[in-house]
Amino acid sequence: SMLVQEEMVMGIQDGRIVFFDNKDKLNALLKSFEMNKENFISLERNQFIVPGFIDSHAHAPQYTFMGSGGDLPLLPWLQKYTFPAETRIDTDKTFSRDVYEKCVRAFIGKVNMDINSPENYIETREESVKATHRFLEDILSRKNPLLTPCITPRFAVSCSNELMVDLAKIAKEKSLPIQTHISENRDEVKMIASMFPEAKNYTDVYDRAGLLNDTTILAHGVYLTDEELQVIAQRGSGISHCPNSNFSLKSGILDVRKVWEAGVKIGLGTDFAGGHSPTMLDAIRRGVTAANVLYFSQQPDHQATVDPITYKDIFKLATLGSAQVLGISDVVGNFEVGKQFDALLIDPDVKHSSLDVFSTDTREDIIQKFLFLGDDRNILKVFVNGSQVV
Ligand code: GUN
Ligand code: FE
Repeated sequence: SMLVQEEMVMGIQDGRIVFFDNKDKLNALLKSFEMNKENFISLERNQFIVPGFIDSHAHAPQYTFMGSGGDLPLLPWLQKYTFPAETRIDTDKTFSRDVYEKCVRAFIGKVNMDINSPENYIETREESVKATHRFLEDILSRKNPLLTPCITPRFAVSCSNELMVDLAKIAKEKSLPIQTHISENRDEVKMIASMFPEAKNYTDVYDRAGLLNDTTILAHGVYLTDEELQVIAQRGSGISHCPNSNFSLKSGILDVRKVWEAGVKIGLGTDFAGGHSPTMLDAIRRGVTAANVLYFSQQPDHQATVDPITYKDIFKLATLGSAQVLGISDVVGNFEVGKQFDALLIDPDVKHSSLDVFSTDTREDIIQKFLFLGDDRNILKVFVNGSQVV
């Protein structure tokens, strides 16, 4: 899983990694890539680089109330906090500009909802489809390689089957990824069963509508059965594990190992404002806690319990796993030669951070300490497609 590489050199040309090799080959590599020694950055003291973290599921229009409104489970939480906040974004341009300027590059979707929604925050099926086309034209016309539009039926609770079928067609025609929520909360699962009596289960609702393919990102999936996971694996869809949200909204705990064993792609997400933090370091920590809670809560039933998954596994979900779920693992997610240089430069030694390194720490200890204790003070630089953006 996580690989700690020492004494390595990496070459980047036109945003891409062209070599990643042992330090003693540096001179030969510089020569063959016609590179200059002056352009090299060397990492000082305990500094290291990690692949950029990828948040595979978040709600930009919920950014405003993140960190508050944590008293309710999913369905009443949507009614009391989420829908009013999103309505304000929809109707107040100055407000929405302020919010969206704080949320950067991404796959972005226009949320669709045509049933079971508040009177002032609902569309007809026709309006929803029209608004989706307008949204797609707007995003695609910007020709920004860092922006990918994504088809976003909110979830089957708030979408008619007809609307989901329309959206699946648009996604297919325009080869666009799809994102939605699935099986996050027990009351939600019950509601789906009563709304769609003809479907075998929640997964089948999306599958019948044509929404499951190898670009579909399914958030949560806490209560998916083995049978459902099999179908999701067959369709090549992926799951976004959102542990902060699953704790905060009291939804449940996703069994990551079960998802792996079914052969389903899985990444990590913040799901703010269901989750109360926008940082992936937090998501990693909650992911570790979720794995540990699952481990001890399963003890009575499973005599020979396997070990809980580790921080290294969760780190991988936050990088390569999310890249796979988003269908971008050919360009980001790790430091394979040929991929974009998408990375964080970490300095564990900055003053006044929560992280203290001692001479007894190994390289791996230092990385683990960063994942558990680090924060943005330790993130010295951020690189996207080879360019330093922070
Ligand atoms: N299911 C449907 N909508 C939402 C949402 O906004 N947040 C979360 N966590 N789950 C949802
Ligand atoms: Fe969500």
